[in-house]
This record gives sequence, structure tokens and C-alpha cells, in this order.
Amino acid sequence: MAYRSFSEFLRALETAGELRRIAAPVATELEITALADREMKSPGGGKALLFEQPTIDGQPSRFPLAINTMGSRRRMALALGLDDVDDLAHQMQLILKAKPPTNLRQGWDLLKQGLDLLHARPKRVKDGPCKEVIHRFDRPSAAGASGVTLADLPVLHCWPQDGGRFVTLPNVHTRDPDTGERNIGMYRMQIYDDRTTGMHWQVHKVGARHGKRYYEKGERMPVAVTLGGDPAYTFAATAPLPDGLDEILFAGFCRKKSVELVKCETNDLEVPADVDFVLEGYVQPGEARPEGPFGDHTGFYTPVDDYPVFHLTAITHRKEAIYPATIVGIPPMEDYYMGDASVRVFLPVFKMNFPEIVDLTLPPEGVFHNLVFVSIRKQYPYQAYKIMHGLWGMGQMMFSKYIVVVDEDCDVHNTSEVLFRLCANTDPQRDSTFVKAPCDSLDHAPSVPNIGSHIGFDATRKLPGEGYSRVWPELVKMDPMVAAKMEALAASLGLR
Ligand SMILES: Cc1cc2nc3c(=O)[nH]c(=O)nc-3n(C[C@H](O)[C@H](O)[C@H](O)COP(=O)(O)O)c2cc1C
Repeated sequence: MAYRSFSEFLRALETAGELRRIAAPVATELEITALADREMKSPGGGKALLFEQPTIDGQPSRFPLAINTMGSRRRMALALGLDDVDDLAHQMQLILKAKPPTNLRQGWDLLKQGLDLLHARPKRVKDGPCKEVIHRFDRPSAAGASGVTLADLPVLHCWPQDGGRFVTLPNVHTRDPDTGERNIGMYRMQIYDDRTTGMHWQVHKVGARHGKRYYEKGERMPVAVTLGGDPAYTFAATAPLPDGLDEILFAGFCRKKSVELVKCETNDLEVPADVDFVLEGYVQPGEARPEGPFGDHTGFYTPVDDYPVFHLTAITHRKEAIYPATIVGIPPMEDYYMGDASVRVFLPVFKMNFPEIVDLTLPPEGVFHNLVFVSIRKQYPYQAYKIMHGLWGMGQMMFSKYIVVVDEDCDVHNTSEVLFRLCANTDPQRDSTFVKAPCDSLDHAPSVPNIGSHIGFDATRKLPGEGYSRVWPELVKMDPMVAAKMEALAASLGLR
């Protein structure tokens, strides 16, 4: 189901009992994030919070602010208009496995999938709600004193030692200057003044690749940043899609409705017409400024580093725009649920590449890619190593610092079960492998930024041919018939 606006999504959250309105004034400097952090750390991710009166330096903001809107499994599913994110994974699997139909039922199913894919194709429109109010800064005479600038947005100062205010849920639209392919990534933006920000696309990300080509050509790079609208856009921007797979198409597939695109006022980029804010601008080749520090996903402050600068040429917005935000920090945070949804939706893609994969998860303690648990149906010696190397070769899985491979009968979502297998089933030297690898730019542990090592553990049962000459023991388990009988007895006795 598609939402026509971010506020429609917020109403859906409210109806589902998933949103708390806060009418009292609360400061964008540390106070909103302190409340949000508290909420995100409460069982199941707490509630989404809608601040009706955020204040900026003590003054009321023109715009309300919503945070933690995707910070639980239920809200993440609601964001995609689903009962459960696994429904989307199922649709993905159907598409990947689509074969010519052999009966009418299959024919209908395929037709429906085809229509869904048609929905994925964006439509171009001339105007949209995101242009209800337009403030242009590219013409000196048009820079009206009463216009909205970045200083008017309720941008959060998240943690005490942050270098300033950061836009934390921006969907950054860029285009490959050679192929014209579009990309949307989520890269935080530090506010420098009312017209400039940092652009924190890390070296491995598509925005940085596009930027490099513009710098090589010596051309100014058009950039558009959207905030709000259907949450499917935000989810698509964060999803680790393969380079070249269009986020707009993916968002259309998720919401089962074409995304309507409208051209920006001051550059040629196209953005979803129904978002709350569009920040139009450019990045100048070769220009960089210190960015940070910032309390990051890792749970630590990332230090100051040079990043490109975004110059604002226009802000357009809905009349009743709502500013979306999040806060990252020591897990679990809202981003865990976004990452978890990505893994679940793309599990069929992993399985298509590696049919022996049964399940895979990135536990919250690993802050996305630091830790991967994967279970496999093992058939031949060293298959666990094939899986580790295969995962390290798949897009952003290249950042996975620790991969633990277990047998199919281990529940990867039960961390203590995985740790039990890891401890019990491995001889550390024999069953581990180190590789040199690119590292996440945020990772402070490697001796130098962006490169380091990863380790994989084979915690599966050892097969003949894997250097294990003894007989592998059986797991201790109760006789299933006795267990079932005693379950019934326990229930009748009220034992738990
Ligand atoms: C809340 C949030 C904030 C993020 N901030 C950044 C960031 O500042 N820089 C960055 O490179 N990636 C950031 N990411 C991760 C990217 O959005 C993610 O890797 C995405 O897949 C990148 O898209 P791309 O592959 O099209 O570049 C963030 C993710 C989330 C959920």
C-alpha cells in the first residue's frame, strides 16, 4: 500500500497505537534525541514520536518533527504497507523464481507479479505537493528575507560532542554523469550555515562514485535531497541495492504504486512529487570541508574528516510539511529495524546466489555489518568458507567483520544458540580464516581508515575431508515422543 504523504503514514501509525504526539515544546538541541534514544531502547523499539512544537535555540520551529517512525518490526512493516516485511520477501522470491505458468492459478499469480512490476515504473508529472511552497536562492533577487532556509528546519543536535546539527534522514538523489543512471542514498548532512551543509557519502557509496566522475570532468554536480513522503522512499535509500538497481523502481515495487517524479526548480534532477521537503543544490568539484564529530551507528563518535560540501539553491516544501529524523548511537536504535527489513527482503537474493543458505541475520550488537550469522545446508567440505567469501564479495556485505556459519538446525536469530555452536563446534585455529578487506569508513578499530581484516568462523559440523579424524558427536536431545507427552503433562499441571 502506498502512502500519499508522510503525514498519512503518521496517521496510520497513530491509528495502530504506534505513535505518541508531544505537544509540549522540546528542544532540537539534545532534548528530542534524549527522549528518542530512551524510546528506541525500550522493549520492541517503543513508539514513534511526533513533536508538534520543536524549538530551535529556544524559538518555536515552523515545522513539526517525527522520529522513530520505523523503529520496530511492526512500524517497519506499516511503513511498507504490510502486515509483515516477510510478505515483501515472499514477493521478491516469486519474481526471482518466476517460471512459465503450468496452470491457471499460476498464470494469475504471474500476471499479478507482472502488474506489480509495472507499478514499479515511475511516472513523470508536472507539479506536486512538494512544490506547494518554493524558495529559490539561485537568483540574488529571489532570496527573500522571509523565505525558509536550512536554519528554519528543526534539524537535530543529536549528541553532546557532535560538531553541530545534522540532517539524519536525508534521501540524497544524484545521477551518474556518464550513464544518466539515478541513485538515492542516505548520507547525513551537517549544517554549516543556512545555505551549506556537509555531504557525508563515504568512499564506498554510489553518491561518492558519481561525485568522483563529476570531479574528474570538472563539472558541478547537481544534487537533490528529499525528506519525508512515503516511507518506502527512505527505506529504498538505505537498502543496500546492487549498484545500478534504481531505488525509485524498488520503492515503486515496495509500495505497489508508481512513484510520481517531478523535476527540480534549479537543476535537472527528478524527485518524488509527494515528499515533504526538497533541498536542491550542487556539490562543487574538489571542494571539501571538515565534517563531524558525530555520535554514530557504531556507538562511538566518528572523528572530524573532510567531506564534500552541499550548496543549497532552493528549498521547496509542502505547506503542512513534517520534518523526519532519526538518531543513531549505541544499538539498538531505529536503524536496526531498517537494516533488519533490508536483510529479510533481500534474503531470497542471497539464497538465489547461494542455494545452501537457510537463513541469515545481522544481530543488533554488530551494528549492521560487524556481525553476520548464517545457517547453511552443508553438503561438502569447506562449504562454510565458500559462503563467507561469497558474502564478502556481495555489495555492502564486504564490510562484514565477523561471519559465523552454522548448520541448518541452528536458529540464527537466537544469538545464544549461535554462540553455543561457535564455542562448542570450533577449534579456533582450524575453523577460522582471516581475509584482508575494505572496512566501513565509520569503523574506528582498523589501524588506518577504510581497510583492515575480517574473520570467518566455520561453526558447522565437520565432515570427512575437513581435517577432523574423530567421530562427530550427536547433539543431546530428548526423545520427541516423550518430550511431546511431557509438554502435555506440564501444561495440565500448570508448569511452565
Ligand atoms: C540512518 C542512516 C544514516 C546513514 N548515514 C550514512 C552516511 O552518513 N553516509 C553513508 O555513506 N552511509 C550512510 N548510511 C548507509 C547508507 O544509506 C547505505 O549504505 C545505502 O545503501 C547507501 O546507498 P548507496 O549504495 O546507493 O550509496 C546511513 C544509513 C542509515 C539507515
